[in-house]
Amino acid sequence: WILTVTAQTPTNIAVIKYWGKRHEELILPINDSISVTLDPDHLCTTTSVAVSPAFTHDRMWLNGKEVSLSGDRFQNCLRELRSRASDVEDEKKGIKISKKDWEKLRLHIVSFNNFPTAAGLASSAAGLACLVFSLANLMNVKEDHSKLSAIARQGSGSACRSLFGGFAKWIMGKEENGSDSIAVQLADEKHWDDLVIIIAVVSSRQKETSSTSGMRDTVETSMLLQHRAKEVVPKRVKQMEEAIEKRDFPSFARLACADSNQFHAVCLDTLPPIFYMNDTSHKIISCVEKWNRHEGTPQVAYTFDAGPNAVLISHNRKTAALLLQRLLFLFPPQSDTDLDSYVIGDKTI
Ligand code: DP6
Repeated sequence: WILTVTAQTPTNIAVIKYWGKRHEELILPINDSISVTLDPDHLCTTTSVAVSPAFTHDRMWLNGKEVSLSGDRFQNCLRELRSRASDVEDEKKGIKISKKDWEKLRLHIVSFNNFPTAAGLASSAAGLACLVFSLANLMNVKEDHSKLSAIARQGSGSACRSLFGGFAKWIMGKEENGSDSIAVQLADEKHWDDLVIIIAVVSSRQKETSSTSGMRDTVETSMLLQHRAKEVVPKRVKQMEEAIEKRDFPSFARLACADSNQFHAVCLDTLPPIFYMNDTSHKIISCVEKWNRHEGTPQVAYTFDAGPNAVLISHNRKTAALLLQRLLFLFPPQSDTDLDSYVIGDKTI
C-alpha cells in the first residue's frame, strides 16, 4: 500500500525583516518580523509526501532532481513531526498505521516551486512550510498552525510565517529551547484585500550569498545590527501592526521601505560586505521614491530580500497598473537592462 498527501503553500515576503540568529541550530532570531503571504496561485510550493512499507529510505526530489536529506535542518523537522505523529487509519484502503510505526516507516517527498529557487524570492520559506504542513497531515499530527510554525522554523526561519495567510508575525520568543518562537496571524487574507503585489524579477540567477551564511557573517561583524535589533525593530513592529490593523497604507509603505533599506544597510555593514541589490534594483527604488514624493503621499512600497528582485506593493489595482506601465517604460523587455522577465506575480493578497 501507499498513502499520500499533497499540499500547496505560498511564499511570504517580510515587510519587517528577520536577519540574524541568536541560536543557529534551533533557528531563533534576534528580532520579531512581519510578513505578508502571497495568494496561493502565484509563487508557491506544491509538495506530495508518501509513505509505504516498500520504501527503504527517506528520499526527496526538488523540481525533478533528487536532493540529500541528510542535513540537520530536515532531520530536526522530521524528528519533531515523528514524535508528535498519531495513529492513521484508511478503512477503504485497509491501511492501519500506529503511532510507533512512524519511527520505522520511510517517506518519499516530491516538491515543485513555481518560481526561481534561491533567487531571493523566499523559496525556502514556502518549501519548508509546505514540507512540514504536508507531513503533519500525513502523520496525523494534532497541533495548531502556531505549533507547526515552530517546527517549520527549524527548517528555515522565514518558513514559520508561511503557515498563515494574510499578515503574519514571527515572535522571536525568550525561551532557550525556542518553544515560544512561533508565528501568529495578525490579519487574515480578507482584511486588506485591495493591496496588490508586483514582483519584478531583476535576475532569476541563484544568489551568491545564502541568507543563512550572510546573516551569520552579519551577526559576527556588524555593529549596526545590534542597534537595529534592540532599538529600531521593536518600535517598528508595533507601528507596522498598527498600520496593518488600520489599513493605513502611507504608514505601511514608509515602514516597509525603511526596513528594507536598513536590512540592506546592515548587509553593507557586514565584513565582507554583502551586496544583494544591483543597479536595476537601485533604479527601481529611485523610481518609486520619486513617484511617492511627487504624489505627496506614498502610493507604492518596495522591499527587497536577499537578492536583487523587487517586491512592489501598491494600495489598489489602479496604482498597480500605473506602476507596471512605468516599469515597462523604464525597463522595456528585451532591452539591455538585466531584467530577466517582467512580472511573475501580480496578485491581490
Ligand atoms: C531576507 O529564512 O532564508 O528573506 O533561517 O537561515 O533559513 P534561514 O534564513 P531565511 O532568511 C530569510 C531572510 C530574509 C528576510 C525575511 O524573510 O524575514
